[in-house]
Formats: sequence, structure tokens, C-alpha cells
Amino acid sequence: SSAPAISVLGQTFKTDSWTNATPQILNLVGRDLYKDPNHPVGILKSLVENRFNGLDYTFYDDFNPVVSTYENFDVLGFPADHPGRSVHDSYYLNSKYLLRTHTSAHEHQCFKRCHTPGYFITGDVYRRDEIDRTHYPVFHQMEGARQWVRSDYKSNEELLEKIQADLDATPKSSGIIVTDVGHDPVENPKQDYMSERETDLIGQHLKRTIEVVVSEVFNAAKIAAKEAGSKEEYLNEPLKIRWVEAYFPWTSPSWEIEVWWKGEWLECCGCGLVREQVFKNSGKGSDTIGWAFGIGLDRIAMLLFDIPDIRLFWTQDARFRDQFREGKISLFSPYSKYPGSIRDISFWLPKESDGEFKELHANDLMEAVRANAGDLAESVKLIDEFVHPKTGRKSQCYRVNYQSMDRNVTNEEVNRVHDKTREELVEKFGLELR
Ligand code: PHE
Repeated sequence: SSAPAISVLGQTFKTDSWTNATPQILNLVGRDLYKDPNHPVGILKSLVENRFNGLDYTFYDDFNPVVSTYENFDVLGFPADHPGRSVHDSYYLNSKYLLRTHTSAHEHQCFKRCHTPGYFITGDVYRRDEIDRTHYPVFHQMEGARQWVRSDYKSNEELLEKIQADLDATPKSSGIIVTDVGHDPVENPKQDYMSERETDLIGQHLKRTIEVVVSEVFNAAKIAAKEAGSKEEYLNEPLKIRWVEAYFPWTSPSWEIEVWWKGEWLECCGCGLVREQVFKNSGKGSDTIGWAFGIGLDRIAMLLFDIPDIRLFWTQDARFRDQFREGKISLFSPYSKYPGSIRDISFWLPKESDGEFKELHANDLMEAVRANAGDLAESVKLIDEFVHPKTGRKSQCYRVNYQSMDRNVTNEEVNRVHDKTREELVEKFGLELR
């Protein structure tokens, strides 16, 4: 039922059976919130970039969000059956092109082209996901990476001295307490093509760099909260952060950094030492060693600016936009909240010809809601599920809250949108409404 071709940022793509990017999503491509210096995401971006100005990094924010499956997955060593490749998780234009799911899609190009040892890439990334106040199908990431080329040095000793010097030149974070787990030599090993010493020094350089980013950002959040009059105790305590082990197909060893913030550990940033295969795919071969990290900007901006709902980033409402200014972290003051309207969708899952019951992927239901309701969809939750004892048929009930951040929504509008969603679900997935 989709058009034979779709166009994104002036490029045309022939659709095929993989195509699942909806007009609603394609409409958001090119909004470039992170380039607006007065937008919370743009303010956060500048805060980080300014910290690393003059330290041998190039800052990119102009890569096309449409990438090939090669760039997003293959070049990074994602196995063929990795769930990230699924149409349930990503927005495809066709079987060869998709909206990038992470800024790591540009790593290999940067390693190839970049004239400074390090770089940062900021961009919008796209993932099919649930609908609630912290999830939106578009969010923002900042990728950081740094490389050292062995043949630039007369000896390995000289290389190690240079890495140590770069480590000493990295700004030190202040006011943080760090717990580091190291890494498991079997599950999260050092790579064969790197020595223990290289792995250790580059790992330290990576961790120190991320600790600077994180302490800078969260300390700024504390200052903003204090300025706004908050007397909460955590504002006077040092920031607690910890390193936990992680897995990414293109780094080893890999970690994630977590920050203790308002009573919970917050996952902030995945990272690791770049695998040899990525450098090989970038035409660098085994001569190059280095690290990469990817930090999600939206959740952090929500904390920094005290923004309760991720959809607010996308509103054009001046009551939101006019609250923020370049270079300044200030807490959001909420404006009147419009009432929400709850509607349920209950249905039986369809039976297939072989008598089995077909499951509906939650992300497919989310997408149908989003396609019809757009940003009116505040949250969607599975609230009930049961199997009929006699027929074995499965029933599910999802609850949708329709609520605008900008205006009052009438019952008629909610009913119209909801009915269209129900019809679409019947048509596309053969559900039997209850
Ligand atoms: N791209 C990863 C993500 O989206 C983060 C990452 C970047 C991890 C670079 C390792 C190295 O979760």
C-alpha cells in the first residue's frame, strides 16, 4: 500500500518489502534540533564541545541520517541475525537504506577522513520503540572517538609515551567518585592486536574523557538546581559514577558508564576500544588503535533542564522554546497541562492457516498509534493479556493516553484518531476487535 518511491532530504528511494518508515517519521528528518543553539539539545551539545575545544578533536554535525545497512551494521561487525537489524526495531527506507539507529554508523568514514586524532559526531538517530514520556522514535546521540597510528612513531615506546602525554593533557574531572570494575579477560577481552600496555593506557584515556563529559554535565545540572532554589541533599554530595562491562560488536573491551542520580543508576554512555576490523574496514588496518563512545543526549537534557516529557523537545510552542538560551542551563517551568483522554484497544490475535496464533509485535502497534495520533499519543501500555481456556486464542488490551502538550483536544478528535488506529490494526494485522 506504500508509494513506489519515497524522498528524504532530496534523495529518492525505491520502496520494497522492507520499507516501514512512516510519513510522520520522515517529517521529523531534517528538523536538526541539535543545531539550534537555544534548544536544550543544542545547548547540551555545545556544553560538551566547548570542553574539548583545542584538544585535537573535529566536531561534525552534518552527516546524512540516511545510511546504508553496510554503514549502520556490517562495517561494525553486527552479525547477520542481530536483533537491531529487524524491521521491528529500525526504520527502513528499503532493504538497503535506513534511518541511522546510532551515530556509530559514521565511525568508519571519520576514521578514514578525519585530520585530527579525535572527532565528535552529533546527529539525530531513529528507533522504533514504545511510547511513553522518555521514549520518542527520534533522539540524539553524540559519538566521540580517538585514534593513534603506530607508524607515526619511531618505536612502540614512543607511542606509549604519546598516549600517556595525551592522557595527562585530558582535563581532569572534579567532584566525582568513580568505581571501576576493570574488564573480564574472557567475556570482555583485550584484542590480540593490542598489547596490555596499549589497552590499559587507551582505556584510561577513554574513561577519563567520558568522566570529564559526565562530570561537566551533571555538575552543571546541580548548579542549575541550586540556583532554582532546590535544597536537596544530593546537590551537596560528590557525583557517584561507575563503570560496568558491556558488549558492542565493534569494540572490545567495552563498558558503559552509569551515574547515580536522584536515587538510581542511570545508563549514560556505551564505549570501548575500537575493534581492529573497523580500522581495517576504514582502510587503516592494524596500524591504528583507539576508542569510541556514544552518549544519548535527550535523557540527559531532560534531567539537566528538568523537562518532564521528551515530546516537548519537538514542540514549536513559544512557551517551551522561549525558556532556553544559548550557553545556559535553566530549569523548565511547566505551563498548564492539558487534560488527557484514555482509550483502550482490545482484540483477539488472528489465527494463521496452520492453526497457530500470530503475535503482534508491540512496536507495530505503537507505530499504528503514532501514525494516526502523532504527538497526541502520550503513552501506550499493554494492560491486559489472556489466553482463552477453550479456544486457546489470545487476547490483548492496550491503553492509550491521548494528551497534547500545546492545546486542548476534543473528544471527537480523539475518537476519530482512535477509530482510525483500530481500523488500521484490523486491516494490517488481521486483529479481531473486541
Ligand atoms: N552506538 C552505541 C549505542 O547506540 C554506543 C557506542 C558507541 C558504543 C561507540 C560503543 C562505541 O548504544
